[in-house]
Amino acid sequence: MKIDILTLFPRMFDGFLTESIMSRAIENKIVEINCIDFREFSNSKHKKVDDSPYGGGAGMVLGIQSIYDALQSIPNYQEALKIMVTPQGKTFKQEYAYEYSKQDHIIILCGHYEGYDERIRELFDIEISIGDYVLTGGELAAMVLTDAITRVIPNVISNDDSHLNDSFSNHLLEHPHYTRPADFMGKKVPEVLLNGNHKLIEEWRMDQSVKRTKERRPDLYKKYLKTIK
Ligand code: ADE
Repeated sequence: MKIDILTLFPRMFDGFLTESIMSRAIENKIVEINCIDFREFSNSKHKKVDDSPYGGGAGMVLGIQSIYDALQSIPNYQEALKIMVTPQGKTFKQEYAYEYSKQDHIIILCGHYEGYDERIRELFDIEISIGDYVLTGGELAAMVLTDAITRVIPNVISNDDSHLNDSFSNHLLEHPHYTRPADFMGKKVPEVLLNGNHKLIEEWRMDQSVKRTKERRPDLYKKYLKTIK
């Protein structure tokens, strides 16, 4: 899969792309990620990408020209899934991560300033928000999408199917996990996990998942109940 990220701040991605699972997925050629500084495509003398809003008002608005030209520079951009990140978009969910992970090519536009010129929206297929809060720019949102999508591509996480147990993949939060020591200053690991009875362990984990989801996320619990009816 190829992900092209249109951004004014490509260096924000340096750590993200050079550490841990993302860096390994890139090294193993499972994903190719390019950060494209669309300021370089500005045809104004001072590489301006924004301007004051028509009709007046505070703040600056991102103009269409540099973004249009940056998009055109990407080979086969017409066939890619083109995502704009904006707080006005649909809220990102685990199911979209699975859906988008099947694409060959994704382009993500990171906004900045007060907003986008409305005509930019027409160049993109979908608008995605990562939650009901406003960030200073779209870069963190683009990283969230890239991370969530990449980790569910086959062979990215070494134990290939481990993400299938993730919180949200079946409308349930994950069960608690424990590792050594079995007793830490009197805080003990539940007995059932120590006895090697896999059937009992599975039952305990499922019970814990359901209990946690009911307590913490009644909205998810309702969805889960529908799946078992
Ligand atoms: N840009 C600024 N805030 C955002 C958000 N919550 N989601 C996506 N992009 C954004």
